[in-house]
Amino acid sequence: MFKNLHPILMLKALRDLTNEFYDDYRSKLGYCHETAQIVKPMKIVGPQNVYMEEGSCVRRSKIYTPFRKLVIKKNSCLSGSCTVLTGNHMRVIGRFYRSIKQNEKAADFDKDVIVEEDCWVGENVTLLQGVTVRRGTTVAAGAVVNKSTVPYSVYGGVPAKLIKVYWTIDQILEHEKQLYPEGERYTREQLEEFYKK
Ligand SMILES: CC(C)(COP(=O)(O)OP(=O)(O)OC[C@H]1O[C@@H](n2cnc3c(N)ncnc32)[C@H](O)[C@@H]1OP(=O)(O)O)[C@@H](O)C(=O)NCCC(=O)NCCS
Repeated sequence: MFKNLHPILMLKALRDLTNEFYDDYRSKLGYCHETAQIVKPMKIVGPQNVYMEEGSCVRRSKIYTPFRKLVIKKNSCLSGSCTVLTGNHMRVIGRFYRSIKQNEKAADFDKDVIVEEDCWVGENVTLLQGVTVRRGTTVAAGAVVNKSTVPYSVYGGVPAKLIKVYWTIDQILEHEKQLYPEGERYTREQLEEFYKK
């Protein structure tokens, strides 16, 4: 597998491979609640920018957060083989993209990815930069999410589209009344705003 590689590149490739299986990412994350689960093999580029709240999990996935954050909020899970990308390369007339360094990009060129509470992100999903997966979203297996979702919904496909909303606004308000303290619940107005689009 490595036979045509320069020895230094070979060592780096071996190190990466070993890290995926053995690295204890927990101690390197920006924040990792004691109940959060990380199932290896994992690849995380920029673990200091990953925040995992209570009851969250991520399984056998690839996370690229060298400059921006990934926040996985309470009780949300990224299933196996997911990819999170918080950045893009930039195109500039007269330049090869690989010659453009991070410090030449505008400050908001790369963007955080936020997975809010109680989200189920299915197998082999890609979350792209700037996306917020809102509370109670299910992302169907294989989706590529390039826009933020509405709460309590199912999204699927490439690019991901809204498949359905689980409940009526009254049902969501009742659901949240049972699970979240008052200040953390969506209001009727917020929900109406999400679903009018
Ligand atoms: C989305 C999912 C949860 C099914 O949700 P559901 O509410 O039962 O939805 P349904 O099966 O009734 O499908 C609703 C629509 O979504 C479509 N759909 C279902 N899964 C889809 C997928 N992965 N990608 C694109 N569309 C999908 C269906 O074809 C259907 O479309 P139609 O109405 O045009 O026929 C399921 O298909 C899925 O992807 N699960 C992820 C499983 C997984 O990754 N598990 C990881 C281990 S935890």
